Amino acid sequence: MKEVKSVCILGSGGREHAIGYAFQKLGVDLFFYPGNAGTKKIGKNLQIDNFAELEVFDLVIPGSEEYLAKGISDGRSNVFGPDSRGARLESSKCFAKLFMEKHGIKSARFEIATTHEQLYDALKQFNPPYVVKLDGLAQGKGVIITHSFDEALDKGTKLMNGNMFENVKGPVVVDEYLDGWELSAIAIVNGRDFVLLPFTKDYKRALTNDEGPNTGGMGAYGPVQIDEKLKGKIEELFNKTLVGLEKESIYYRGFLYIGLMIVDGEPYVLEYNVRLGDPETEVIVSMEPEQFALSILKAYGKEPIDEYTPKCCAVDVVVASEGYPESPKKGQEIRFQEGGFFFYGGVNEKNGKLVVSGGRVLHSMGIGGNLQEAREHAYKNINNVYFDGMYYRTDIAGNE
Ligand code: AMP
Ligand code: GLY
Repeated sequence: MKEVKSVCILGSGGREHAIGYAFQKLGVDLFFYPGNAGTKKIGKNLQIDNFAELEVFDLVIPGSEEYLAKGISDGRSNVFGPDSRGARLESSKCFAKLFMEKHGIKSARFEIATTHEQLYDALKQFNPPYVVKLDGLAQGKGVIITHSFDEALDKGTKLMNGNMFENVKGPVVVDEYLDGWELSAIAIVNGRDFVLLPFTKDYKRALTNDEGPNTGGMGAYGPVQIDEKLKGKIEELFNKTLVGLEKESIYYRGFLYIGLMIVDGEPYVLEYNVRLGDPETEVIVSMEPEQFALSILKAYGKEPIDEYTPKCCAVDVVVASEGYPESPKKGQEIRFQEGGFFFYGGVNEKNGKLVVSGGRVLHSMGIGGNLQEAREHAYKNINNVYFDGMYYRTDIAGNE
């Protein structure tokens, strides 16, 4: 295995704290940019002005897609992640859909529109509910799902013209609506082969019973048990993706996360992500931290990686701040009791106190021999923390 003594993790959320927690078990020197109050406890938070400074680390792991889309991996062999061409699987939904069509990878039927008129024609080819997605990165907010044709046309046009989010505009994809259940499948890719990490389920809506707006994820659990037949079909999707990338001369080493919709036992690709998921990572890491870190080191060294079966279950309940996702309240002091198990998201240190600095503040973790036990631990663990305006869903891993 390639010798790795120093690891620098890029990002400032619960996912990055969790990746660091896994590598801490291997005893490496840990650095984070920019990091948060949680990462500061297990490593050193850095101020980096120029990404050329990353060259001193044995291994750099970008947490969020933004770094990869901007080309942080281009020409840098110490970065574990695809180059900007590979990152287009996530940074351009049009690229991803055309890629899937070209390489026979199952996904929803689609049309691409770049003008109001084209969007009108495209929507006419589908039945409600309508699904319209922005081509570029919009932090999970660029998807409109509505039963109203007029709303799909109006909001879709606003998305295209940049009237929905500042600095984001461009073509849109109109997708056929798929009615099924969602699953997060994440693989570690070593440039040739891949190995699946345990399957997880993420809860996207803000409120209990899947109400409220879409968020980055309000909780997750794993492993999700699926039958061998479905697993085989999912592996086939990954295989085809890697073959497609090779045909397009895109070298891919890093994480490949496929957001799946399972319809009548058939997996369809909803989206590609070129990074780990948040809060999926917190769950995957909690189950087997050392195995997780070792698998990354093997893939980084372009060695074969073995699949591992977790010996326990994990649940992550996100503790968010009032107003999230639209405009989370910030600055409140966070008080902990001894002994809790949390990954820190939007938590900063100010005058020696811990304060809320983002919408998804903490990930309350629970581990157990079965899902029920893990769930009980995660919810009980929340009693170890308090801040003004905290809220969380009460049904994470509850109906399984
Ligand atoms: P995406 O960013 O493409 O993963 O979309 C965000 C969320 O929108 C997904 O997690 C799904 O819940 C939903 N979604 C996206 N595309 C579709 C589709 N074609 N049919 C049904 N739901 C979808
Ligand atoms: N939890 C969804 C994501 O990381 O994209």
